[in-house]
Amino acid sequence: MQYVKLATVGEVKHGEKKKILINDKAILLLNVGGLYYAFDNRCPHMGGLLSGGDLEGTTLTCPRHGAKFDVRTGKSVGNAKLAFISVKVGDATKLPLKVEGTDILVGLD
Ligand code: FES
Repeated sequence: MQYVKLATVGEVKHGEKKKILINDKAILLLNVGGLYYAFDNRCPHMGGLLSGGDLEGTTLTCPRHGAKFDVRTGKSVGNAKLAFISVKVGDATKLPLKVEGTDILVGLD
């Protein structure tokens, strides 16, 4: 696994998120309480763009069908809703991340 620079500390403030393209891969960087988290920007359900979702506390909601994910783990914590049907979804793809100095680095295969 190779770590590449995703952003600089302070670029994404507490409670904010940002989509960043690296090697044609869209990565979602979030800051919750001063801790950073990175995800594949595509929802595991049907590929909704998580960067367009709402972040409330540690919960990220997919804008497409409303599935909810805990950003600390990527675990699914709320089903998607299609019309009146509730659908269980998989976990979001959390990416390894580390901070070195002022650089936020993401691990990519
Ligand atoms: S694509 Fe995200 S909930 Fe359906």
